[in-house]
Amino acid sequence: MEKRRIAVVPGDGIGPEVMREASDLLLAIDDKRGLGLKLWNLELGAERYLRDGTTMPADLFAEIRETCGAVLLGALGDPRVPGNEHARDILFGFRFGLDLYANIRPVRCLDDRLCPLKGRTAKDVDFTVFRENTEGIYVNVGGQVRRGTPGEIAINEDINTRGGVERIIRAAFEHAKRHGNKTVHMADKSNAMRHAHELWLRVFHEVAREYPGVEGKHVYVDALCLYMIQDPGSIEVVVTNNLFGDIVTDLGAALQGGLGMAPSANVHPGSTPAMFEPVHGSAPPLAGKDAANPFAAALTIGMMLTYLGHPELETIVENAVRACIGAVECTRDVGGSLGTRAAAAALKKRVMAAL
Ligand code: NAD
Ligand code: IPM
Ligand code: MN
Repeated sequence: MEKRRIAVVPGDGIGPEVMREASDLLLAIDDKRGLGLKLWNLELGAERYLRDGTTMPADLFAEIRETCGAVLLGALGDPRVPGNEHARDILFGFRFGLDLYANIRPVRCLDDRLCPLKGRTAKDVDFTVFRENTEGIYVNVGGQVRRGTPGEIAINEDINTRGGVERIIRAAFEHAKRHGNKTVHMADKSNAMRHAHELWLRVFHEVAREYPGVEGKHVYVDALCLYMIQDPGSIEVVVTNNLFGDIVTDLGAALQGGLGMAPSANVHPGSTPAMFEPVHGSAPPLAGKDAANPFAAALTIGMMLTYLGHPELETIVENAVRACIGAVECTRDVGGSLGTRAAAAALKKRVMAAL
């Protein structure tokens, strides 16, 4: 396994635009620091699917799994593919196929100006969501019967295994222990979902007992949404299931200044490759307009650099983003007037100066 080979999947919509800038930044860092990274660009996405029906070829997936240290993904989703089947094949192909069970989504606000909450500042928004990434309703066990008739039935089963629940909860506690956090919140709906989420609650209390320095706090996910707005400073680490994790991290992105500021990592601790992607989607209305914020993708590069063994480089990238936002060298979604290219150029200049 060559840890320095990175598969890049720009994908659809704004994906190629933010990945172009992220790759450029990564190569510039590599050039200066001699990391020996090799970027391998892959044309997977709607364009390819519409042309020849390809979503995620099995031999290509095997090659990525065997030869890459990481996958960098832009975004997938195109109005010309309303069923989203290519996106599911590719995105879930990586998440499920590589068993990347921990979707780690930091919710960190980098500037007071970006904090949308009255009476709060950036320092009040700094927590990490551990989203279960291989189970839940995302497995798509289910079906439709009597389709198109008034008596139609549609079923999506919610899959929760003991092993799957335990490993993501453990990953959250390990993170809390490593980072000196005092609490882990587990968000579920065990008041309504008495089978699946009774399992989550029971396993959560069991695992919490193994971490005496970290307090395990159970919260219903609806109340978590309330606390995220009312008192985000009371939250350090959140662990939750696949669907709830998807939803609360868009809410979290709003606390960071929007989806243009939210990075994420998909990992299986102790195994490679991992997959890194901004939280945002392909934002079709912004595509091709030089309007997408490239900072979520840049922060994602930062997370990947930490994963590759260079945490000091993530700090440099994050500080450079902070400085750009502070100097209003940024795109419109975060209060600036620059396009994607110009914002990325301003960021790169600051990163280069700090290296
Ligand atoms: P979206 O994230 O694409 O957009 C939501 C909102 O955030 C829009 O207002 C958009 O303009 C804004 N936004 C997103 N990224 C931005 C950026 N970098 N800079 C500035 N503004 C940004 O979500 P959506 O509109 O619900 O979905 C669009 C498509 O993307 C769908 O096909 C969806 O399935 C897909 N999607 C893919 C991923 C992924 O590949 N990981 C994630 C989310 C959504
Ligand atoms: C995300 C996205 C995906 C998800 C979609 C595109 C299936 O919203 O990565 O947050 O729900 O996981
Ligand atoms: Mn999402």
